[in-house]
Amino acid sequence: MAYDDILTHSLMLRDRIRTEAYQRAIEACVRSGDRVLDFGCGTGVLSIFAERAGAGRVFAVDRSSMLEAAQQVFADNGCTRIESWAGDGDTVELPDKVDVLVSEWMGHFLFAESMLEPLLRLRDAYLRPGGRMIPASCSLHVALVSARAEFEMLTFLRERPYGIDFSAISSWPFHEIATRRFKPNELFPDSACFGTLDLATITAPPRSLNARIVCSAAGQCFGLCGWFDAQLTSEIQFSTGPWAPATHWFQLFFPFDRALTVEPGQLLEITLRIVRLGDTNGFEWLVSTRGETRRGDNIVHQAWLARIR
Ligand SMILES: C[S@@+](CC[C@H](N)C(=O)[O-])C[C@H]1O[C@@H](n2cnc3c(N)ncnc32)[C@H](O)[C@@H]1O
Repeated sequence: MAYDDILTHSLMLRDRIRTEAYQRAIEACVRSGDRVLDFGCGTGVLSIFAERAGAGRVFAVDRSSMLEAAQQVFADNGCTRIESWAGDGDTVELPDKVDVLVSEWMGHFLFAESMLEPLLRLRDAYLRPGGRMIPASCSLHVALVSARAEFEMLTFLRERPYGIDFSAISSWPFHEIATRRFKPNELFPDSACFGTLDLATITAPPRSLNARIVCSAAGQCFGLCGWFDAQLTSEIQFSTGPWAPATHWFQLFFPFDRALTVEPGQLLEITLRIVRLGDTNGFEWLVSTRGETRRGDNIVHQAWLARIR
C-alpha cells in the first residue's frame, strides 16, 4: 500500500475510535522528556500527540511522500521536538534509543499489510530495555458467516449471466478477500480467538493460526469473518469486530466456494496460513469438520494483482 494519497490518511484520521484511543494511550504512556519513535507517522498525528504529552524528542519515520506534508503540519502546530526521518522501517538508522515505540501498523485482520516485520526490527534496534510499545498487544478473532447474500454475490458469474459462459473467471471471486462490515445477524453467534501477539516479546509474525469453534446454532455457513482487537496499553483498547462500533478496518470475509451445513455442538477446526507476498500478505484458509473441508486462498490471485499494478 502506497500511502501517498490524502484520502487514505483522512479515512484513518476520521476514524475517531482508532485515533482517540491512540491519543489516550500516548497521554497515558509518554512521560515528560521521553524519546519516542513513531513508526509510519503518515500525517504526523501520533507524533504531535507524543510531543503534546511531553516527549523530549520524537522521531517521526515514514517512507511515503506524506512525510513532506507532515513536516509542514508539525511547523503549523508549533512542534519543535519532532524530527522527521524519511526512510523504510526495514533499513532506517536513528541516532538514539527510545523510551516509547508507537505505531499504527495494523492492516485489515492485522496482516493484510506487512508492517510488523520492520516494527520488530525497530523495537530490537531502538527500544531501550523496559521501554513501552503502543500497541502492547493485538489479538485475532474469527466467526462463521451465515449471510447467504455474501455468497450469492460471489456465485453470480457461475450462472451464465447474459447467456455468457464466464467459467474461465467464475471461481476468481472466491480467491479474493473482501473488506466487509458484518452485522451480528449475518454471523453465527460463536467466535474464537486465534491468539494474542505480545508486541514486547514476539520475534516474528506468525505464519499459521489455529482456532476451534463449537457451533451453537444450525444453518449454512458461507465463509469466515476475521478481525483484530488492539490493546494499546493495559487500560486502553479497541475492537474492530462486528459486535463493536465500526472502525475503518471493518472485518475481512474469507469465502467458501460451497456452503457448509452445521448443527449445534459441531466442532470446526480452522487454520489460517499467512504468506508474505512482497509488501503485502496473502492468506490461505482451511476449515475441517466431521470429514468435510472448505479451503480457499488469495495467494495466486494476490500475486497476480501485485504484478499488474
Ligand atoms: C496505517 S498508516 C498510519 C499513519 C499515521 N501514523 C496515523 O496514525 O494516521 C501507516 C503509515 O506507515 C507508513 N509505512 C508503511 N510501511 C512502512 C515502512 N516499511 N517503512 C516506513 N513507513 C512505512 C505508510 O507510508 C503510512 O504512512
